[in-house]
Amino acid sequence: MTRTLKTQVCIIGAGPSGLLLSQLLANAGIDTIVLDRKDRAYIEGRIRAGVLEQGTVTALEEAGVAGRLHREGLPHDGFELAFDGQRHRIDLKRLTGKSVMVYGQTEVTKDLFDKRFEEGQAFHFDVEDVTLDGLKSGVPQVRFTKDGEAVEVTCDYIAGCDGYHGVSRRAIPADVLKTYERVYPFGWLGILVDQPPVNHELIYANHARGFALASMRSATRSRYYVQCDLTDRVEDWSDARFWEEFATRLGPETAADLKTGPSFEKSIAPLRSFVAEPMRYGALFLAGDAAHIVPPTGAKGLNAAVADVRLLARAFTAHYEGNDARLEAYSAQALARVWQCERFSWQLSMLMHQFPEDGAFAKQMQRADFAYLVSSESASRSIAENYVGLPLE
Ligand code: APR
Ligand code: PHB
Repeated sequence: MTRTLKTQVCIIGAGPSGLLLSQLLANAGIDTIVLDRKDRAYIEGRIRAGVLEQGTVTALEEAGVAGRLHREGLPHDGFELAFDGQRHRIDLKRLTGKSVMVYGQTEVTKDLFDKRFEEGQAFHFDVEDVTLDGLKSGVPQVRFTKDGEAVEVTCDYIAGCDGYHGVSRRAIPADVLKTYERVYPFGWLGILVDQPPVNHELIYANHARGFALASMRSATRSRYYVQCDLTDRVEDWSDARFWEEFATRLGPETAADLKTGPSFEKSIAPLRSFVAEPMRYGALFLAGDAAHIVPPTGAKGLNAAVADVRLLARAFTAHYEGNDARLEAYSAQALARVWQCERFSWQLSMLMHQFPEDGAFAKQMQRADFAYLVSSESASRSIAENYVGLPLE
């Protein structure tokens, strides 16, 4: 026996993209079903970046989930780049008139879940074997099993918000889908520690031993990273080894302010740039990590996802008001911004890391790039403009 359900938009994936989309659509009176192969606790436990562009904050305000963000988020007017211990501040406020908000993605996800649950959103967690059918038929369907029971959802549209490892992107025929990818030859080892941040703003550091990033979650909780080898495992990195390496890469002046302590989370993430085109195939629309991945340098992942979702929510809303122009334009419009995020994340990654294969020439190029940034307001403004986020349209 197959259980059948009906909705306007079936959303695959309850990460930030799927949750925000369901919220914006609910606000517009559009019915959605959201499914995920994991459960709420698992999704909320994933640790990701924590820098929100103003456009992202605006989207969360529009969705009605920005209350705690404004109470607990930390507005940042600048950040620093460091090269062999020499620090250069990028004054976001002065250079662009804008700032960013430091607020963990985990918290954004919690806020979205709280509101969706409060409003009675239909969720299906722990689903298996999700398949998409009829994408070009006018009667799209999503099928899955839950606790051994087969379920079929018929809908007007499907939103593929199921991240890089999801099934939605794979439902686009291979002769239609074009992918672009770059895998970086290192990872980031990240820790969370209940100690005040070493600096009141973020520091991205390039040191001969590799990249380091000093970030934070609050005035008493720090999020720190070091570039590590792809073959490294978390067990290879004791807290003692992490602190020694992190302090060395920040340089003695900065490290003098470093407060160390036992880490309570430690994980390794690979770095990848990836784009899939187009972001629409018939009734299927991709958003967020399902369509694109950026390396974390510059913290664009969540911001890029939110920009997609804003465009997509507006497009569905216009559709149900009788205008399809925005739906037709979605893929091209989203991709134009995605490629800008890709370019910036790639550029900042190239500038700030040690590339094992690179010779002395490439190192001198990084050095010259950094010297140019320090001496040229235009060069610094270019970084600042991208860091605070390019306009949505
Ligand atoms: N079926 C159902 N759900 C799936 C499937 C599947 N086959 N595959 C993946 N999912 C779910 C995952 O369990 C996850 O909860 O889709 C969700 C995708 O969430 P994210 O990976 O967080 O992607 P997205 O919502 O686009 O978020 C973009 O968050 O993931 C970070 O780095 C990313 O910052 C970026 C932002
Ligand atoms: C983080 O706080 O986790 C973070 C901040 C900035 C980045 C990446 C990660 O560029």
